[in-house]
Amino acid sequence: MSETPQPQQGPRLREALRGIPAYKPGKPAAGGDGAPAYKLSSNENPYPPLPGVLEAAVAAADSFNRYPDMGVSALVAELAQRFGVPESHIATGTGSVGVAQSLLQATSGPGDEVVYAWRSFEAYPIIVQISGATSVQVPLTEEDGHDLDAMLAAVTERTRLIFVCNPNNPTGTAVRRDELERFLDAVPADVLVVLDEAYCEFVRDGEVPNGIDLYRDRPNVCVLRTFSKAYGLAGLRVGFAVAHEPVAAALRQTAVPFGVSQLAQDAAVASLRAERELLRRVDALVDERTRVVAALTAQGWTVPDSQANFVWLRLGERTLEFAAACEAAGVVVRPFAGEGVRVSIGEVEANDLFVETAGVFRKGL
Ligand SMILES: Cc1ncc(COP(=O)(O)O)c(C=O)c1O
Repeated sequence: MSETPQPQQGPRLREALRGIPAYKPGKPAAGGDGAPAYKLSSNENPYPPLPGVLEAAVAAADSFNRYPDMGVSALVAELAQRFGVPESHIATGTGSVGVAQSLLQATSGPGDEVVYAWRSFEAYPIIVQISGATSVQVPLTEEDGHDLDAMLAAVTERTRLIFVCNPNNPTGTAVRRDELERFLDAVPADVLVVLDEAYCEFVRDGEVPNGIDLYRDRPNVCVLRTFSKAYGLAGLRVGFAVAHEPVAAALRQTAVPFGVSQLAQDAAVASLRAERELLRRVDALVDERTRVVAALTAQGWTVPDSQANFVWLRLGERTLEFAAACEAAGVVVRPFAGEGVRVSIGEVEANDLFVETAGVFRKGL
C-alpha cells in the first residue's frame, strides 16, 4: 500500500473514522392536518420545564455575551452536597454522552478494548470508534438483560473500560445489586467500569443498586448521570460523572472548555431545587409505564421488565412495519431494524394511541 500523500483528496483524516455509524436521533413527530403527532422516539420527558427552572434559564440568557463559569461551581457544589461526595469527585460535560466521550479520551486509544453489552446505547460504538479503541460487544441474554458473566469473560489485558448501562437502553432491563457487586469485585482494578445511569430515577425495583453507593469504595467505578431524562433538560446538554480523583481529574482535563453553558448550569441547579415536584412527574411517568406494560401484556406481547422511561418490543422482521403502523397512527417510535422497537413513555394520550395501535397490529400477527 502506498503512503504517498494525495493532495487532491484534501486533508488526511484519521483512519479510525472510516465507516463510523451515524448517530440516529429519534425522529420528530410529523403531525399536520390536525393529525395527532407524538414523539416517543427519544426517551425525552414530555413535561415542559418547571417554572423555577425556566426562570433560571431566562435569567442566565441575559449574559450570553459572557463565557460560562468554567468550573461549573454552583452545580458541582449542589451535586456534591446532594450525593454526599467531595466536589473533586464530580465532573460535568455536554450531556452524559459528552462525559462518556471524555472517559474514552482519558482511558482508551488504538490497541485498547472497550467492553459493553449489545444491544445497548447506540452512542457507545460511535464514541469508542472515534477514540481509536476497539469495541467488544457482548450479546444480551435471552431476557434482554446484561450477561455480566460473559462480559467478564470478554475482559482481556487490553480492556480499558467497560460500560454497564443500567437500566439498559433500549431494552429497559436493569442489573441487580448482587450480580453487579460480584461483577465489580471480579473486574481487574485497572479497568474502569462506567455505570451509565441515565434512567436511574425511573427505577422502582428495590434490588437495583444506586451506582453512587457502589463507587464509594471502588476507585475503578465511575457513575454517569444526566439532566436530559427525568430532569427534562435534554435540550440544554448537561450531564456529569461521579468518580474518584484520578478519573474525575482526567475528565476535567479532557472536557471541552466552557462546554456546559451558563443557561444549562443554572437550569440544572434550579431543577435540583425543584426536585420534589420534578420527581412527582417521574412518578406519574412510572405509573404510565406500569399501565402501558400491563395493556401490552394483556394484548399478548412479551415485554421485558422496564425500569426506564421506555418499553421494548422485540419484533424481529416486523420491526419496520410496526414502526410505520405507529407513525401512520400519529406516534413516532424508535425502530432498530430486524431487532425491535423502543417506545418512550410520554403523555397519556400518546401512550393510549400507542397501546391502541399495538393492539391492532398484534391481532394481525
Ligand atoms: C443510556 C444513555 N446514556 C446516556 C445518554 C445520553 O444522554 P445525554 O447526553 O443527553 O445526557 C442516553 C441518551 O439517550 C442514554 O440512553
